[in-house]
Amino acid sequence: MRGVILILFVVLLSSDYSQEACLVSSKSQRQPVYVKNNTGKYEFLLPSTNGMHFEQGDQIILLCAGHLNRLNQTNQNVTVATCINRDGFLISNQIYPFFALECRRAVRASVVHTDETCTNGYISNIGYFIEDQFLKLIEVCFDLDQGYAVYTKHLLLTPELPKFNGSYHKPTFNTKGLSPENKSVSLVYHYEAQRARLSSLLQSSILSSHYISNHSYLARGQLTPEEDFPFISWKYATFFFLNASPQWNRIDERNWRYVEEMVRKLRNSVDEQLQIITGTFEVLELKDRSGKMKPLYLSQRGKKFPVPKYLWKIVLSEKSKKGVVLVVYNSPHDPTAKYICSSVCKTHVLQFCAIQTNCPKSSIFKYNWNITRTRIEIGRRHRTMRKMENSKVFNFAVNVIRLE
Ligand SMILES: *[C@@H]1O[C@H](CO)[C@@H](O)[C@H](O)[C@H]1NC(C)=O
Ligand SMILES: *[C@@H]1O[C@H](CO)[C@@H](O)[C@H](O)[C@H]1NC(C)=O
Ligand SMILES: *[C@@H]1O[C@H](CO)[C@@H](O)[C@H](O)[C@H]1NC(C)=O
Ligand SMILES: *[C@@H]1O[C@H](CO)[C@@H](O)[C@H](O)[C@H]1NC(C)=O
Ligand SMILES: *[C@@H]1O[C@H](CO)[C@@H](O)[C@H](O)[C@H]1NC(C)=O
Ligand SMILES: *[C@@H]1O[C@H](CO)[C@@H](O)[C@H](O)[C@H]1NC(C)=O
Ligand SMILES: *[C@@H]1O[C@H](CO)[C@@H](O)[C@H](O)[C@H]1NC(C)=O
Repeated sequence: MRGVILILFVVLLSSDYSQEACLVSSKSQRQPVYVKNNTGKYEFLLPSTNGMHFEQGDQIILLCAGHLNRLNQTNQNVTVATCINRDGFLISNQIYPFFALECRRAVRASVVHTDETCTNGYISNIGYFIEDQFLKLIEVCFDLDQGYAVYTKHLLLTPELPKFNGSYHKPTFNTKGLSPENKSVSLVYHYEAQRARLSSLLQSSILSSHYISNHSYLARGQLTPEEDFPFISWKYATFFFLNASPQWNRIDERNWRYVEEMVRKLRNSVDEQLQIITGTFEVLELKDRSGKMKPLYLSQRGKKFPVPKYLWKIVLSEKSKKGVVLVVYNSPHDPTAKYICSSVCKTHVLQFCAIQTNCPKSSIFKYNWNITRTRIEIGRRHRTMRKMENSKVFNFAVNVIRLE
């Protein structure tokens, strides 16, 4: 069987070289969304490791989503282009080089709310409309009442492409999909607002200036990270408050980044798409002036806009029915961080490994997945984790699970 697959592969490869196919890549910030038309059912087109590859005659749909957006060359928001040869694509009697096929402005994703409930909230989807179909990129479980993302779900579709090179203009975070009251979440991230909030919460401007300074602040951490997506147009769809959670900047830049990178490395080493679910859990507490623990909500009034105590990520393999959970403690300030429980994966934190014994009960990952017999590990500081925030703090956890 393996032999047959190998032979087919060789034949396919050699046919690539015998034709003048279109091999394309684009680094434009006004890149359209690339879509294929599967007899009326639209699907995302995915890149291979060296860009997207088309045979002569292959058709691609260029979608310029967003209000009044359209393709430069056609003034349409949906344009069909046909691969001709290495020089380009045919659109109504003209051949254009691929990189020139740009939208008037950066593509904007849409948010669609659903009636589907999830832990403490409702499911909203971030994606693109094409005609009456919706192509989903990110699913968000959002708690409207307290105003925070419980979790997001997306697929890690492709192995990591060569590092995206050079600067691309990061868009500002968008409040799309939030109710008018919830849009004020954009204000609570401001430096002055964080200072004021912690001063009143902790009843101390000294403590506040310790936590909130030029070097320490709460960043807008994307739950579904832009780096997990292969296209600039898709990366832009992660810049939504709907997809963000307050993270201490040093956690965001180090521990959490490390976790995200490990997940992408894992994807590079397996031959399948991975389902990634990323979320928040519990509310971080800080000691106030009198030593009392205070839950950290960023709104001045009521229990709104919580700062999560934990950030977690579940990586699931449909194929092997296994997964791994990574948990990060969202605090660079707490020297008393403890193990949640003992270690499971002895060899490498990101191997899919089967569960062994029970760990202290944790409801963290009960949500919508039928995950039973959960086991949690807080890993020792891994040798390669040189950038971890605080070497004395084991604020990195791995939770190994198996689907029933
Ligand atoms: C996609 O395919 C369907 C059926 O094959 C066709 O009716 C439709 O016009 C196509 N869409 C575009 C944008 O070309
Ligand atoms: C494309 O343009 C049509 C007509 O102007 C509009 O109805 C539709 O909403 C646009 N689609 C997108 C994805 O922006
Ligand atoms: C597309 O339109 C934008 C905005 O008008 C312009 O800046 C850009 O140069 C155009 N790109 C091409 C390839 O024509
Ligand atoms: C978010 O909006 C909902 C519905 O408009 C409202 O009930 C809720 O109080 C708001 N939450 C926050 C945190 O502002
Ligand atoms: C990135 O850009 C630098 C400088 O322009 C270049 O030297 C390097 O080879 C590029 N890397 C990739 C992966 O394109
Ligand atoms: C902090 O940033 C502000 C404004 O950006 C600047 O004026 C100030 O000097 C900085 N303080 C320190 C200690 O770097
Ligand atoms: C979860 O698994 C249990 C036992 O395997 C089963 O009885 C239950 O119906 C499952 N629940 C869901 C929501 O799939």
